Amino acid sequence: MRAVVCRELSGPQSLTLEELPEPQPGPGEVAIAVAAAGVNFADTLMVTGKYQEKPPLPFTPGLELAGRVTALGEGVTGVAPGDRVIGLVDRGGFAEVALARAEEVYPIPDAMDFDVAAGFPITYGTAHGGLVWRADLQPGETLLVHGAAGGTGLAGVEVGKALGAEVIATAGGPDKLEIAEAHGADHLIDYRSEDIRERVKALTGGRGAEVVFDPVGGQVFLDSLRAVTWGGRLLVIGFAAGKVPEIPANILLVKNLAVLGLYWGAYRRKAPELLRAQFETLTGWYAEGRLKPRVSHRLDLAEAAQALDLLLTRKATGKVVITTGGA
Ligand SMILES: NC(=O)c1ccc[n+]([C@@H]2O[C@H](COP(=O)([O-])OP(=O)(O)OC[C@H]3O[C@@H](n4cnc5c(N)ncnc54)[C@H](OP(=O)(O)O)[C@@H]3O)[C@@H](O)[C@H]2O)c1
Repeated sequence: MRAVVCRELSGPQSLTLEELPEPQPGPGEVAIAVAAAGVNFADTLMVTGKYQEKPPLPFTPGLELAGRVTALGEGVTGVAPGDRVIGLVDRGGFAEVALARAEEVYPIPDAMDFDVAAGFPITYGTAHGGLVWRADLQPGETLLVHGAAGGTGLAGVEVGKALGAEVIATAGGPDKLEIAEAHGADHLIDYRSEDIRERVKALTGGRGAEVVFDPVGGQVFLDSLRAVTWGGRLLVIGFAAGKVPEIPANILLVKNLAVLGLYWGAYRRKAPELLRAQFETLTGWYAEGRLKPRVSHRLDLAEAAQALDLLLTRKATGKVVITTGGA
């Protein structure tokens, strides 16, 4: 089979496409012929050794994939060869065949294509987990979503709307803001040219947003401390801007703020039952037409480096997926 391989931690350009033997499922594992795999910011960090999970070299990147079951390891029940499934994996998604633990294999709704399915679980799971489990977002509250045309950001806009919030979206430039608006954002801020605090205050009658969803980090996070209302909650989702903010605790004290971290991937081991319930909720919303996942680019396995670069150069909107031509 063809697989993308990372042999050194020097970034996307050093990824190679190789012919490898097809992996065989061990006990409790499912082999999946991959049709498409979602590209995540984490992949860009993993191939430079900057991610919190550091797989031993060489490894095949790719954390989420969609395709058809081809074989079952010993003891696996509940799925059958031919089933259309999503698999969550620690690595290995950018290949024609991947192995997933049976507990991390999810059925794809009939109406969902493989390329949409491949990019669905991580971004929507992160948006839902952050907004529901951590921030307890309530209908009628104002939600400020940063990087709102990106993978997690756009999912944050849609999940926020599905939960009944009024959504203020920030992004860099009018084209990206147009995408956030098309996915439900009520108000738009171009953080390249506009002041986040001033615009949020103006849009909320001087009050500020109740909840902030921040996958960008750096100065955008620090500006959010001034744009959030008294008693508000700020979700630390990621640091796409490359800078981990240092939080002045005095502002938290004075404004009674809560800063909440979320690492969605941790739930895979710590609370898998929550992920399964979450997946049902999110696919239910998808079936009702409340979520409309966007895939901005589809690239072949041979173009994995370019696919990762689309995220690093801020050209991706919604999701980028890698396709195999198979399954
Ligand atoms: N906590 C979790 O469980 C979890 C789950 C998934 C992802 N994440 C993290 O969340 C962050 C974003 O992930 P994502 O999937 O939303 O990525 P993405 O699709 O690439 O979106 C990131 C957005 O950040 C903005 N950005 C600002 N400065 C940037 C820079 N220097 N380089 C690239 N983008 C920049 C871009 O929007 P503008 O051009 O509009 O500024 C871009 O649309 C990453 O740090 C990722 O690791 C965390």
